[in-house]
Amino acid sequence: MMLVDIPKILDERGNLSFIEKGVHLDFDIQRVYWIYDVPGGEIRGGHAFYEQEEVIIALSGSFDVILHTGEEEKRFSLNRSYKGLYVPKMLWRSMENFSTNAVCLVLASTFYKAEDYIRDFDEFKKIVNQ
Ligand code: TYD
Repeated sequence: MMLVDIPKILDERGNLSFIEKGVHLDFDIQRVYWIYDVPGGEIRGGHAFYEQEEVIIALSGSFDVILHTGEEEKRFSLNRSYKGLYVPKMLWRSMENFSTNAVCLVLASTFYKAEDYIRDFDEFKKIVNQ
């Protein structure tokens, strides 16, 4: 995982940011989704993906992304619309501490496929330790 610096075009009329394939991310974006209106205290995304890679951006507000390799975890606090968090496949990830009005944008490398999810943490640990 790594933080991606997204260009920020400062402008008195309002700022603008953009992401280009091959420059700021390596995969083809197949799907974009966003999470919003998260009630205080809720946790999203407790799972891993077999195939999906993604970049997560706090388009508005803030939240934490917790990434777990099966052995150790790392917490990233996202609160800038010009920082992306690249999440490779096969990492357990959850999101929490959503601020009011937080918008979590996810750029994903695959179409939605329920079979790509690993939703049981013990099963995830078994798979990565094989
Ligand atoms: P899920 O990925 O479990 O949410 P999160 O990881 O943020 O907690 O998705 C929640 C529900 O939405 C689940 O029933 C599947 C559905 N869904 C789609 O239909 N398409 C999508 O692109 C996504 C991300 C989810």
